[in-house]
Order: sequence, then C-alpha cells, then structure tokens
Amino acid sequence: MNDFVYKNGRLHAEGVDLATIAEKVGTPVYVYSSSGIERRYREYADALAGTDSMVCYAMKANDNQAVLSLLQKLGAGADTVSEGEIRRALAAGFDPKKIVYSGVGKSAEEMAFALSAGIGEFNVESDHEVDLLADVARQMGKRAKIAVRINPDVDPKTHAKITTGRKGNKFGIDLDQAMDVFKRAAKHGSLEPVGVASHIGSQITNLEPYRAAFARMVDLVKALRVEGIPISVLDVGGGLGVGYTGEEPPKVADYAKIALDAAKDAGCKLVLEPGRRLVAESGVFLTKVLFVKEGSAKTFVIVDGAMNDLIRPTLYEAHHPIVTVAEPKPGAKARPVDVVGPICESGDFFAKDRDLTPVGAGDILAITHAGAYGAVMASSYNARRLAPEVLVRGHQFAVVRPRPSFEDLIGRDRVPDWL
Ligand code: LLP
Repeated sequence: MNDFVYKNGRLHAEGVDLATIAEKVGTPVYVYSSSGIERRYREYADALAGTDSMVCYAMKANDNQAVLSLLQKLGAGADTVSEGEIRRALAAGFDPKKIVYSGVGKSAEEMAFALSAGIGEFNVESDHEVDLLADVARQMGKRAKIAVRINPDVDPKTHAKITTGRKGNKFGIDLDQAMDVFKRAAKHGSLEPVGVASHIGSQITNLEPYRAAFARMVDLVKALRVEGIPISVLDVGGGLGVGYTGEEPPKVADYAKIALDAAKDAGCKLVLEPGRRLVAESGVFLTKVLFVKEGSAKTFVIVDGAMNDLIRPTLYEAHHPIVTVAEPKPGAKARPVDVVGPICESGDFFAKDRDLTPVGAGDILAITHAGAYGAVMASSYNARRLAPEVLVRGHQFAVVRPRPSFEDLIGRDRVPDWL
C-alpha cells in the first residue's frame, strides 16, 4: 500500500492534500506519513512476534523527535551512533536498555555519556576501542555490555558508498581477528562480551548476502562458546532496501525468517537495526517549480529545493521517483527533463532525463521515498535554510521541525571584536 495517493486530482498524504501543506508551510518541505511508518514497523513486529528479539530503529535514517517518539511508543529500541543520537533517543523516551551504540569512532566522552545513561549495548569495532571503553567503564565503576562488530567479508551488491561488510571497508573486525578481540575483551573486568554484531551495508535488495553473513556470525558464536565466552545476542544490523525504482524488494517476513533461523541456530536473542525500511517510503519532499528553461539540448525544470536538502541523487546517483502534486490530466504526455535546484553546482540535481508530464512555474513536485536519509543529511550550503518537516496522521498535520529563520542562520556566527 502506498502512503501517498491521488484523491480528487491531488496527491494526498493519508487524508491531507499535499498542496495544502505546500501552501501553509511553504516549500521546500518534507512530509511524513505516521501511519505509513507505523505499518512498516508492524511488519517487523508481526514477523518477530513471540520470539526473543528487539527492533532497534537506526535513527540516523530520520531523527526527527516526532518520528522517534512514534517508533518508541510502538515498542522500538534505537540504534545510535553518537552522543547526539543517544540524547535524541532519551529525549524521545526510549528505554536506555533498548539503546544500542554503534559506530567506528566513539570518543571517551561519548562512551562516558552512554555509560552514565545506562544504554543496553555497545557495538565495538576495534581492539583499541575495546581497551578505551574498558578504561572508561572501570574509572566510572561500571560494567559495559558489548557486542563485537565483525566484518564478514560479503558483497551486499549495493552502492560502493554504502557497502560496509567487505574486507577493505573501515567497519567491523575481520573474522580472522575476531576471536582475539573477544578474548581481549573478556579479560577486562569492566566489559561483558554478550554479542556478535554485523551490518553489511544499506539498500540491500537480495537476501543471499545476508544468509552468507549470518552463517559466518553463527559459526563465530559457536566457536566463542567453545572458548568459554558465552554469547547471547546476535545483532544483524540493518540494510534491507526499498523499491526506489519500482522494483519489489525482499519482504520483511522473509528477511526476518533468515535472521530468526540464524539466531535460533546460535542460541541467541536477535537484535535488528532497520533504518531506511521503516521510514523511506513514508516521506516525500515537496518542492515548487520556479522556472522551466528550454535549452537547446535539454529542458531544465528549476525547483526551489536543492542538493543541500536532499543529497542522495548527486551523492549516490540515487533514483527518487518524482510526481506532480496535481494529478496529470488523462493522456498528458511525459517528456524527458532535468529536475535541478538553484545551487551553483552542476551536481545540484534531483533527476536527469526523467520523463515528466508538463509542468510550469508554481507547480508542486513530490520527490518520493524521501523519508530516510533526506532531512538528516541536509545542510545550509548556499546559506539556504533547512527545509521544515511535517508529520501527517489521518486528516491532521503538524510542523514537527520548523524552517529556521534567517536570524537562526546568521545569528549562530560570532565575529571576533579584534577583527
Ligand atoms: N546499523 C548500522 C550499524 C548502520 O551503519 C546503518 C546504516 C544501519 C544500521 C541502518 O541501515 P539501513 O537499514 O537504513 O540501510 N546515507 C545512505 C545510507 C547510509 C547508511 C549508513 N548505515 C543513503 O542515503 O543511502
């Protein structure tokens, strides 16, 4: 089911006309469907019902407090990668015990903060991190539960910039070094090694790489038991893809079954860290057409949103569908255009040679599948204000992150008086 459908000739988010949001809040703007996010979370919850498992939402995908609050209330935990994310998760009411702290570069200060917050699990990724966390925990008189993130060396067949589980990626510990790192961790009285973790990449649309990675994790868990290190958690990371180009990605239930089978085989509780799959399709980015420029070689649809708002097309050559908020007239002929923003770079585009039905100045476009890695990756490049975010439920909508004022933008800087 799609969260965004045409009703009475206009694209709606649930019961709300997107043209109304564009008019009242202004463009560019992100709009999220709360029932869409809820439905996608339930796919995981249903697939895992009755099992010893935990879904920790990878909040880097969309860290709006309203989205976090929604998922927290549905029972999710949080996968975090910085003190800022842990603070956001706590502010949204997540149970600290359901917070996993991942990431390849944690500072001592961040570790101390996470320990004082009482988070459930640190996913550590290097021998030096093991030693540093052990020191910090000892000084605080605490014991940190850790999972060691391994690099299973499988190719997830996704974009190079979001491939994380191959030899040569900076993530995790190579399988042949994992046993030593666990033994090292087990010697520290301030650490309790409880889990084996992995995250092989993002936007994965084939289950085979998962099968291969999980099998290697299970083998490691068994080998660790033989060495007297009792592992009780299998954290399989996230990465399940969505259908940006209309393709049908694997079903959550099929993915969950593979993960559950692995956890059962390993005799472990299962932890999953989905990000994109929970929020991508429940978000659109609305942008207004400023001009249509007919070049001799191409037609450019120049819009008020830009690469600073949604960087995925230029950063990952990502395809995001683009539709008009006004439903195209029956028989309207699409023709290829470049949809571009106002930023002074040729990389500032949302689509190239994309078939679009005729549009003119003032028309609103919806760039879909924008709920994940959209607003979170935005910047104020070209002194553009961050796009606001809106959450819809039924016939209601609310601005859940307002557009900053120009004063917010300029007033953060300080000009030294010696200048
Ligand atoms: N767990 C860990 C340790 C991760 O590093 C990530 C994502 C996830 C879970 C969630 O992965 P997901 O289920 O969302 O695929 N900015 C890129 C994606 C970067 C993903 C980074 N790590 C994009 O826009 O495609």
